[in-house]
Amino acid sequence: MTAQESQQQDTNPSPQHHGHAFGIDVGGSGIKGAVVDLATGEFVGDRLKIATPQPATPDAVATVIAQIVAEKNWDGPVGITMPAVVKEQIIRSAANIDKSWIGVDAQDLLGKYLDAPFTVLNDADAAGLAEVAYGDDVARSGPVIFLTLGTGIGSAFLLDGQLFPNTEIGHLIVGEKEAEHQASSAVKDREGLKTKQWAKRVNRVLHEYEALFNPSAFVIGGGISRKFDKWGEHLSIETPVVAAQLRNRAGIVGAAMAAKEGIRP
Ligand code: BGC
Repeated sequence: MTAQESQQQDTNPSPQHHGHAFGIDVGGSGIKGAVVDLATGEFVGDRLKIATPQPATPDAVATVIAQIVAEKNWDGPVGITMPAVVKEQIIRSAANIDKSWIGVDAQDLLGKYLDAPFTVLNDADAAGLAEVAYGDDVARSGPVIFLTLGTGIGSAFLLDGQLFPNTEIGHLIVGEKEAEHQASSAVKDREGLKTKQWAKRVNRVLHEYEALFNPSAFVIGGGISRKFDKWGEHLSIETPVVAAQLRNRAGIVGAAMAAKEGIRP
């Protein structure tokens, strides 16, 4: 019997003994968690989603995180993404979450709610790492910029699959405004933009990123990447642009990877 087979026959398996870890993605509207099989990057069982409490204060969010972990009966390592700069586990920005997060030491806060080891990292950084591990080959080689287009614009800078964390180029001023204030998918919805109108804005932002950073490719994630074949044709930059493969699974998967690998930005 192989080690794997004997584990599968275990009558009381502890999931983290099977190359699994738990990922939680904290977003503006939902906090989502799942057990992740790190061999495949797939979820084990269902994803659990609980609405983000409003206001999304640190203790309110931590309570929901603990609830998700408890409901899933998980007692191993946990990775948690935040839509924020996370430096040495301290939250340093809060563009799309409650401002009271700024300056919070995530280890101190969440240590009061979780019994197992955990790590906190930026949501786009987590998603970028997941694309490197389980996505397109393009994400793994050379200088690549991964972007998530959602409530904001998140970014992960990757060099041969290695992450330079907390890059935050969604806040770069392009023209008159921050990139994410003109080209996130939330702005498309808020302003009722047609796909082509919005894609032109994305194009402008990508032109600026291309001119400044000269990556070998852009990988675009976030829910709207699912419709990339509808808007990708309106882009005119020279750098190849590909849609992310993991879509909205990426944050949770990247968080679980960080937990397992002990990545602690
Ligand atoms: C935040 C980033 C985050 C991105 C996507 C931005 O507003 O500053 O930290 O990665 O939104 O959620």
